[in-house]
Amino acid sequence: MATNHYYGRDVVSIRDFTKDELEFLFSFTDRISTLSRIERSELGKGITLGSIYYEPSTRTRMSFEAAITSIGGSSIGIADPKSSSIEKGESLSDTIRIMDLYSDVLVLRHPLDGSGRFASELSRHPVINAGSGSEEHPTQAMLDLYTIYKEKGRIDGLRIGIIGDLKYGRTIYSLVYGLSNYDVDIRLISPPTLSIRKESIYGVENKLKIQEYSNLPEDILSTLDVIYVTRIQKERFPDIQEYEKVKGTYTIDQSTLDKSKTDVSIMHPLPRLDEISHSIDNTTNATYFRQAANGKEIRAALLALITNEDPA
Ligand code: NCD
Repeated sequence: MATNHYYGRDVVSIRDFTKDELEFLFSFTDRISTLSRIERSELGKGITLGSIYYEPSTRTRMSFEAAITSIGGSSIGIADPKSSSIEKGESLSDTIRIMDLYSDVLVLRHPLDGSGRFASELSRHPVINAGSGSEEHPTQAMLDLYTIYKEKGRIDGLRIGIIGDLKYGRTIYSLVYGLSNYDVDIRLISPPTLSIRKESIYGVENKLKIQEYSNLPEDILSTLDVIYVTRIQKERFPDIQEYEKVKGTYTIDQSTLDKSKTDVSIMHPLPRLDEISHSIDNTTNATYFRQAANGKEIRAALLALITNEDPA
């Protein structure tokens, strides 16, 4: 196996990973997906994953747990701060220090931007950022890029629409950073009040072709290879009335598919509210459940590579 650059490493931002490193992860993911259950369970034997979730999670937490279990490790963690000493007032730093004592690798989701970096500086063991405020969610982008590559056979040359809450959605920042390694054409669609934070894409925008819209023109819709839909991030709005103004702005349904390429991939990090109609769930275009399944595979590969120098 080529040198494993993931060994012992934090995953705080997808910007810390080169294109070669990302592609190494994708091919390692392909490889372990074909292993037998027994072979796979050798990869992470004896490894304990410690997770701390200060915000709700279904897919990220469950896929990390399923992933570590599938490679033979086990997990401990705080799924709800109310059930831990956080409720008694224990600080983030003490919580991290303690979980670091009991774990070989840590996963943290926290409402503050910068929380992932903070944890990585405190912890002796590698830290994986599972969502830091509206800043980043790097493993989501890893599974998103992997999904695009699996569904389309390539990433270069694609035209990708990203639609919804581009201001607060952390998944789209990590996705845009990850896509900046490729030759892609990005169309951003959001209400003007939820457009992308320019200061956060400073430095990558010159590597990407990006155009912004408040409504998706039909002549553009018909050229998109991927439509990546996001939830309006209600919990991040300082003013709930502002949320009320923009909720339910976009819905992807059969009429959207009728105007799109026949093989367009509809992606979503989930959870969805009303931005994708359930009526398209059984179409081949609906990629979001396959995407969620890929989350377990990418995270299993990532955990194996982080905790094992030569997991071949
Ligand atoms: C996302 C998140 O937490 O940022 N969820 C996820 O991890 N799949 C997206 C969201 O909550 O809208």
